[in-house]
Amino acid sequence: MSQGSSVSKTASEFFPMTSDRASLPIGIFDSGVGGLTVLRSLREQLPQESFIYLGDTARLPYGTKSGASVVRYSLQAAQFLLGRGIKYLVIACNTASAVAVEALRQRFAPLPVLGVIEPGAVAGCAASLAGRIAVIATEGTVNGGAYQRAIAAVRPDARVVARACSLFVALAEEGWTTGEITERVAHRYLDDIFGVPEGPDTLVLGCTHFPVLLDTLRQVVGPAVAIVDSAHTTALQLRATLTAQGLLNRRGGTPTLQLLATDGPERFARVGPRFLGAAFSASAVELVDLSAAI
Ligand code: DGL
Repeated sequence: MSQGSSVSKTASEFFPMTSDRASLPIGIFDSGVGGLTVLRSLREQLPQESFIYLGDTARLPYGTKSGASVVRYSLQAAQFLLGRGIKYLVIACNTASAVAVEALRQRFAPLPVLGVIEPGAVAGCAASLAGRIAVIATEGTVNGGAYQRAIAAVRPDARVVARACSLFVALAEEGWTTGEITERVAHRYLDDIFGVPEGPDTLVLGCTHFPVLLDTLRQVVGPAVAIVDSAHTTALQLRATLTAQGLLNRRGGTPTLQLLATDGPERFARVGPRFLGAAFSASAVELVDLSAAI
């Protein structure tokens, strides 16, 4: 098991302000495997970039934890990734993005930090004709009101309803992405929102795990509702920012992908490929310990 060698150093000691910076990998973290849906989009949009993905599987789920715990976990994850050398930090986890983005920006400046809430809100607003938007997410994300605020900032006239759908996380991890049980759970969560006249015309998937449930969600909300997630918009935003800041990797060569987890590489490799859309084995997953970070 590798340790964070990063414990006492500051962000600026780690963060080279030189031309070498562009060739560093992009760091991305999530509470577990779900953020691999975001990594998948990032790799599609930025095929020349290397990535280090950290899944804090030992402490999953973040979505039911207090904000204070999620901020602490997020600081540790970021510190660890910074210790490995990264040029940019992407918070793939919606819950961590909702509660910890400002804490991370403050603590690790000048490291640029991108969360998924604002890109998700932009995607929802762009897709909605009528401005009636439903957001489904974890309890932590919904209760903090981050999506509601982010959507209001983009489209003040939007009517937003947010619903915590905690069971979807377990169903997605279990691989029960379609079938009777998953449909019934989806109906239970969503029918009172969508089964009314003038219901939402757009559904924002405000959780890393929900894109793999797309077929079931489509069936339950019907064909007229636009379904969006933040992964694609986050990837577009990251590409635009890296381009504007001269941070695209122009070194050539084969980009690398490092996968790190705080628990259970076997489970990570069993569940993860469904989220990443690419196969990998447990031997490709490095077990790390965040307890030494911060
Ligand atoms: N990654 C979390 C999110 O996007 C979902 C899983 C969890 O609760 O940790 O909010």
